[in-house]
Amino acid sequence: MKDYIFILGRDPELSILELASYLNARKVQYKIKARSKTAALVSLPELNFAKVIKGLGGTVKIARVISDLDSEELYSGSSNKIKYGISVYDDSDVDELKEYIKTRMRQEKLKAAYKRSSRQEPFLMPNDVIRHELMNEGFELVVYDNMAARTIAVFNPFEYEKRDTERPKQRELHMLSIRLAKILINLSMAKEGDDLIDPFCGYGILLQEAMLMGVNAIGFDISRECAEASKVNLAWIAKKYKSSAQFKIFNANSRQISRFIEKADAAATEPYMGPLLNKIPVRKDAIKTIQVLEPLYRDVLKELAKVVKGNIAIIVPRFRLYSGERIKFNFERMLSEFGFKPVSALSEVKLPIIYTASDSKIEREIWVVRKL
Ligand SMILES: C[S@@+](CC[C@H](N)C(=O)[O-])C[C@H]1O[C@@H](n2cnc3c(N)ncnc32)[C@H](O)[C@@H]1O
Repeated sequence: MKDYIFILGRDPELSILELASYLNARKVQYKIKARSKTAALVSLPELNFAKVIKGLGGTVKIARVISDLDSEELYSGSSNKIKYGISVYDDSDVDELKEYIKTRMRQEKLKAAYKRSSRQEPFLMPNDVIRHELMNEGFELVVYDNMAARTIAVFNPFEYEKRDTERPKQRELHMLSIRLAKILINLSMAKEGDDLIDPFCGYGILLQEAMLMGVNAIGFDISRECAEASKVNLAWIAKKYKSSAQFKIFNANSRQISRFIEKADAAATEPYMGPLLNKIPVRKDAIKTIQVLEPLYRDVLKELAKVVKGNIAIIVPRFRLYSGERIKFNFERMLSEFGFKPVSALSEVKLPIIYTASDSKIEREIWVVRKL
C-alpha cells in the first residue's frame, strides 16, 4: 500500500463518495487518511491509475506521495531536455522546493523548463499538464498538506470535449454532463460486466459512459426520437471506442420496466424533471410540476424495486422559489414504501447530496438507495 493524493473536482463531497463507491465496487482495499475540500489522501495498492482516472468523474489528478525526495526518481525518460511544474494545493511556501529541484536538475545534467499554470492559480490545470506533456516528457509535483507527490494520472478535458462534439446524435437541451454521468454510474457501483439501467436514457449520455467502463447498458425512453438517438450514439461508442459492453434500448415507458427486463445489477439516472425552465418558477407552477413528477418517480421506483439487485443512483429535483422556499416531494416516504434505504459508501457523507449546476434553475438532490 502506498499513499496517493486525489485532487477532487468541483463537488468534493460527491467526488469523495464517488471514489469510495468506485473502490468498494471493485473490492479494492483502501484507507482515506485525510480529506478536505480540495483533496483526499488515500492509502491504496498499485492500480491501473490511467484507467481509474478515466472511470472517475470527480477526480482531477492522482499523485503518488514521495516519501524521500532525495532517493526518489523524479524523471526516468531518455531526453536531457525536460519540462516540469509544481502545483500547490495548500498554503505551503515552495521556494525551497523549487531551488532544490533546480539544483537537482543541474546535478543530473538535465535542462529543465519550468511550466506555470495557464490561469492565475498556484496549480497547473489538467490541460496544462497534458499540453506540456509533463507526465511523458518531465514531471509535475503536487504539494498538499506538507507532502510532495508526483502526478501519475490526470483528467483529460480534451477527451470529454471530443466525445461531446463528435457523438453523432446531438441535443442541445437536457444534456447531462459526462462528469455527472460518470459520478452517477460510480455511485450505483456498477462495474465491468454488470448490467446498468437508465430508465430515462434520453440521448444516452449516461449509458455511453457506462459502456466505456465496460458496463452493459439498458435504456428506456418514452420518446421514439430519444430511443433511436441513444441507439445511434451507443453503436458509435461500441465502434469508435471498441467497447465490448452490450446495449439494449427500449422505446417504452419506464413505468413498465419489468415487462421488458427481469433483472439488472444497478440503475443510474437523471430522470425527467419537468418542463425546461428558463427562469425561477412561481410557486403555482412548481407545485404543478411536482404533482406530475411525484407519481412518475413513485411508479418508476416501484418497477426498479422489482428488477434491480444493487444500488440505484438517482437525481430528484427540487424547485427553489424567489422567496428561497423549496418545493419538492417526499422522496424518503417513497423509499420506505418500496423497502429502499439510502446507502452511503462513507458513513460521514450524508445523503442526499445537493448538486447545483451553474446554468440550471433546478436544484438536484443526489440519492443512492438500495433494497435492504
Ligand atoms: C432529463 S432527460 C434524460 C437525459 C439523459 N440522462 C441523458 O443522458 O441524455 C429525460 C428523458 O426522460 C424521458 N422520459 C420522460 N418520461 C418518461 C417515461 N415515463 N418513461 C421513459 N422515459 C421518459 C424523456 O423523453 C427524456 O428523454
